[in-house]
Amino acid sequence: MSGAVLLRGGTLLQPAEDRSFAGDVLLADGVVAAIHTGEAGALDERAKAVGAEVIDCAGLVVAPGLIDLHVHLREPGQTHKETIATGTRAAAAGGFTTVLAMPNTSPVMDSVEWLRYVVSADRDAAVRVLAMPAVTVGSMGERLTDMQALHAAGAVGFTDDGKPVLHDAVMRKALLTAGRLGVPVSQHAEDTRMTVGASMNAGPVSFRLGLRGMPVEAESSIVERDIRLLEEIEREDEVRPHLHVQHVSTAQALRAIGEAKRRGLHVTCEVSPHHLALTDEAIAGDASQGSLRYDTRFKMNPPLRSAEDREACVAAVLDGTVDVLATDHAPHALWEKNVEFERAPNGIVGLETALGVAMRVLHREHGMPVGRVLQLLTSRPAAILGRDDLGSLGVGFPADVVAFDPAAEFSYDVRTTASRSRNTPFDGAAMVGRIVCTVAQGRVVFRG
Ligand code: DOR
Repeated sequence: MSGAVLLRGGTLLQPAEDRSFAGDVLLADGVVAAIHTGEAGALDERAKAVGAEVIDCAGLVVAPGLIDLHVHLREPGQTHKETIATGTRAAAAGGFTTVLAMPNTSPVMDSVEWLRYVVSADRDAAVRVLAMPAVTVGSMGERLTDMQALHAAGAVGFTDDGKPVLHDAVMRKALLTAGRLGVPVSQHAEDTRMTVGASMNAGPVSFRLGLRGMPVEAESSIVERDIRLLEEIEREDEVRPHLHVQHVSTAQALRAIGEAKRRGLHVTCEVSPHHLALTDEAIAGDASQGSLRYDTRFKMNPPLRSAEDREACVAAVLDGTVDVLATDHAPHALWEKNVEFERAPNGIVGLETALGVAMRVLHREHGMPVGRVLQLLTSRPAAILGRDDLGSLGVGFPADVVAFDPAAEFSYDVRTTASRSRNTPFDGAAMVGRIVCTVAQGRVVFRG
């Protein structure tokens, strides 16, 4: 078991209620052993009795550990990009204590055996790893995986991330089956028939650069189709399926999601920090975004969109249409990225910059209270997972805590990364909110 830790004299944050108060937190035996609200010091004796390490949290926010619903850890099969050990250390450095592993590994995580491999203690994870296995065998979009068996083995949902489920009948059956199991189908919304050979957003910038573009309709049409399926299932099958839309990047898809929510359908969605901060102008070379022309560190899928889409993403976070922030942490080796733009793989690392970017864009630039920013990274993802023991500070809950300085401004230096890869558009970018310490399941897994 883990040693005890006293987080002393911080501002404790209860994100779900957007409430904060001065206090101390004692972590022991892997759980929150005690919380004292008020002047620092009341838990000193108890902490001493259990030999707790004392961390001075004066000036820091002490919050539940962050939860990322969208992470590529690359094991099995692509350990030159990342391993579960290195990816979870990057998670810890970013304040995350729970991450959801995506199944586009090699081989695809589509069986109970591979799910068990990913969540096994043998992988030496620094933080809690939950698994979201494939919804179709090999993520080929044809035959459903053994969803019951995967669910019984711990699957918290299903996705063919990176490869959307295109066939209506297959997606309908997936939503129905997952709905009966009480977990979401998490969809990478892209009609890949509309994006063949495309490497960036379709618009004036792609036109100027002579690159084939992905139209916004490729995203919104799949979201709209999935919402129609939800309605149909609710009407015909008396099941309330849950659709989770991954990394939404367009105003059009956000509109469809907002309307579906107002009609009472069970739709949730995530936005990635890079879609809040950057636009497709970066691909043309844009000093204000820190990019060079055809800079592959700015290439991901869904791609960076227009300024209007970026603004729509921010507005949808502010008005509550967006449920959570998720990084889509997608490590790739330098040599894989250092090729012509059209040939480079999609994806950027994001675990270590998520809080800093979110705090800068949402809190500093748009006035969103820190507590509400944290909801997007704690209580809301916990609710999507149906885990009321996560994403909140409570006695007896897992000792998953992050302490950070909400006022600290700094620029991110990728040379400090714990990840095996360095493909970030945020090297040298301004961040707000420095992580001082992350405790996961009672273990201090990061000290800034
Ligand atoms: O940018 C991306 N990278 N988007 C995806 O859908 C997949 C991911 C990856 O696995 O590299």
